Amino acid sequence: MPASTLRLLVTGAGGLLGGRLAEILAGGFRVITGRHDSPAAPSAETVHVDLLDEHSLQNALDDARPHAIVHSAALADADRCEREPDLARRLNVDASARLARACRARGLRLVALSTDLVCAGDHPFATENEPPQGRLVYTATKIEAEEAVLSEDPRAVVMRVALVHGRGFGPRATASEATAWALRAGRSLRLYTDQYRTPVDAESVADAVRRVLQGEARGVFHIGGPERLSRYELGLRVADVLGLPRDGIEAVTTADFLQKPARPRDVSLDHSRAARELGYAPRPVDAGIREGREAPA
Ligand SMILES: NC(=O)c1ccc[n+]([C@@H]2O[C@H](COP(=O)([O-])OP(=O)(O)OC[C@H]3O[C@@H](n4cnc5c(N)ncnc54)[C@H](OP(=O)(O)O)[C@@H]3O)[C@@H](O)[C@H]2O)c1
Repeated sequence: MPASTLRLLVTGAGGLLGGRLAEILAGGFRVITGRHDSPAAPSAETVHVDLLDEHSLQNALDDARPHAIVHSAALADADRCEREPDLARRLNVDASARLARACRARGLRLVALSTDLVCAGDHPFATENEPPQGRLVYTATKIEAEEAVLSEDPRAVVMRVALVHGRGFGPRATASEATAWALRAGRSLRLYTDQYRTPVDAESVADAVRRVLQGEARGVFHIGGPERLSRYELGLRVADVLGLPRDGIEAVTTADFLQKPARPRDVSLDHSRAARELGYAPRPVDAGIREGREAPA
C-alpha cells in the first residue's frame, strides 16, 4: 500500500513526543490523532480514546479504521509513576497489552514506544540483546509493557526511544527546549555531568517509524541520536548553538542531588540494529536544537 493512503492512528497525540510525531508523520501518511483529555496535534481526523477502557478502544478503532498504530500514550512522568503505581501499571502495561491484542485480532501493524531508561545504565551504548532493568515504577511498567506487547502481537515493533530533544508538542518542553527556555528567561539550571543519554529528535523517531511501516521488521529497536552526551554537555550545546549564555548552567553530579529512586547513569543507546535493518540514521543533534520552540507565553 502506498504510504499516502495508509491510515495511521497515533495514540497520545496530545503528548510531547506523540503530538510532534503526529505532525511530522502527517506529511507522509493519513494520520488520525488519538486524543484523550489534552488537545491533540491538529489533524484532518481525530478520535477520542481512553485506553483504560476496552469499549473506548474498540470504538476508536472502529471509527479510525487504521492500518497501523503508533502507540505513544503512556504515563511517562517517572515521579508521577512512583506516586501512582496502580495507574502506571494500568496505562503502561494493561492498556498496551489490550491495544496489542486488538492489533493482532484486527491485523493492524503496531509500533509501541518505550524508553531508553529501561536499560541497565551501567555502561555506554546498550544493545537490544541486553536484559532491561526496571528500578523505577516507570521503567518496570515499560519493561512489562514491552513484553506484553510482543507476546500479544509478535508482529509488533517496540521502539526504545532515547531522551527527546528538539521540537516538541504541547505545553511541556523537550530536553533542549527546557534548557533554552530557562536560559532565555534568565533562570539558572543544574545539569548532571554523570548521566549519559543519546538525545534524539522527533524527526528521527518519525523516520524510524516510516521505515518500520515500509517493511516487515518486528521486535525491539533502539532509536537513539548520533551522539552520547551527558545532560550537562547537552545543555552547553544548546547554549552554544542558540547563542545563549553558558554561565546559567551549573554542573552537578548524581551524588550532589540524589534523585529518589536513582535514575540509571548511562542509558546511551546503540542503534546499530535499526541502522542495519531499517537504514535508520538519526539527524545531527544541532539540527534538532535549532528547531526547538520558543517558551509558551
Ligand atoms: N519525552 C521523552 O523524552 C521520551 C523519551 C523516551 C521515550 N518516551 C516515550 O514516548 C512515549 C510518549 O511520551 P511523551 O513524552 O509524549 O508523554 P506525554 O507528553 O506524557 O504524553 C502522554 C500521552 O498519553 C495520553 N494518555 C494518558 N492517559 C491516557 C488514556 N487513559 N488514554 C489515552 N491516552 C492517554 C496523554 O493524554 P492526556 O494528556 O490528554 O491525558 C498524552 O497525550 C511514551 O511511551 C514514553 O515512554 C518519551
